[in-house]
Amino acid sequence: MSYKLFIPGPIAVSEKTLRAMAQPMIGHRSADFVALFNAVQPELQTLMYTKDPVYISTSSSWGCMEGAIRNVVKKKVLNCMNGAFSDKWFDVSKRCGKDAGALKVEWGQPIEPDALRAELATGQYDAVTLIHNETSCGCMSDLPALMAVLRDFPDVISIVDTVSSCSVVPIKKDELGIDVLITGSQKALALPPGLSLMSVSKRALERAATVESRGYYFDFLEFQANWEKGMTPSTPVIPLIYALKSKLDDIKAEGLDARHARHAQLNKMVRDWGFAKGFKLFPKEGYGSLSLNCFANTLNYDIAALNKILKAEHNLVIDGGYGKLKGKTFRISNMGDETVETITSLIASLDAALAKTPKLAA
Ligand SMILES: Cc1ncc(COP(=O)(O)O)c(C=O)c1O
Repeated sequence: MSYKLFIPGPIAVSEKTLRAMAQPMIGHRSADFVALFNAVQPELQTLMYTKDPVYISTSSSWGCMEGAIRNVVKKKVLNCMNGAFSDKWFDVSKRCGKDAGALKVEWGQPIEPDALRAELATGQYDAVTLIHNETSCGCMSDLPALMAVLRDFPDVISIVDTVSSCSVVPIKKDELGIDVLITGSQKALALPPGLSLMSVSKRALERAATVESRGYYFDFLEFQANWEKGMTPSTPVIPLIYALKSKLDDIKAEGLDARHARHAQLNKMVRDWGFAKGFKLFPKEGYGSLSLNCFANTLNYDIAALNKILKAEHNLVIDGGYGKLKGKTFRISNMGDETVETITSLIASLDAALAKTPKLAA
């Protein structure tokens, strides 16, 4: 079983990263661990354009996404919804016992700044969740415009999911005024799953201190107290932190600007291929993700058959559509370590496989 993942997470992990994980274990309260933790901090802060601490959580992103709700929502949270993950965040807010409101648009439509402003102006909310890049439908909302609105509501804590966009495009946490910025390991950082990274502002920490029932595992105050010692609250997944260190070294060597430019170039290569074949993007024009392309299956190909051919004959897989979009869309990631060469080869495989793929009866 050896095939390359072009699904939008988990994505392919390099040999170098895998090797970095295979190092002897160290105690999580040892000086060696503190050195490792403190070595990754400045690079994580650079990645997130912040001076705030970046907590390292042994969980998938949902851990921090749920944790953020439990830490900062006192009055009511506004969940902005335009795809599967943001829809689920609304559900998670309610499961945490919080009062939650929905700003909901169709999957693939961006969250509009004016709609956000109108909802916040009701004065009901003290927190907002936003997904910058809705991976399920390949829609990237205009985060700077949305954060400009949020800055006019200083009592509202912003929780922003950049799970599939951090390191693809610059997300300037401090400049934009993002309170809680969350990302995950298995998407654009090209690490295995299991780690989530979360940077928290002083304002959000102050709010957390006044909120009851924060639990333990994702308690911001626990994260902060341990961060000050160069540690995590409980035993973390140390092999992934070795991998993170290796990846941050790679990112530093490439340079953030070059990394962002590479992703834009590769995204365009795939998008141009799809357009040349006659496909359209599923998300609203102008809001196509730069991490992946989610094409509408307007040509009615049997996407499951396409993926079978890709896997059997080209050792790769793409995604055949998320949830209710299964078969109606297909998604191709350009995150992580991809290069012009690997995307050129992917496109050749897509061409060859598509030529053999049957169309579905109308
Ligand atoms: C935008 C977004 N948010 C959240 C998640 C959930 O991440 P995890 O499965 O790591 O908890 C995903 C996963 O695909 C995602 O794409």
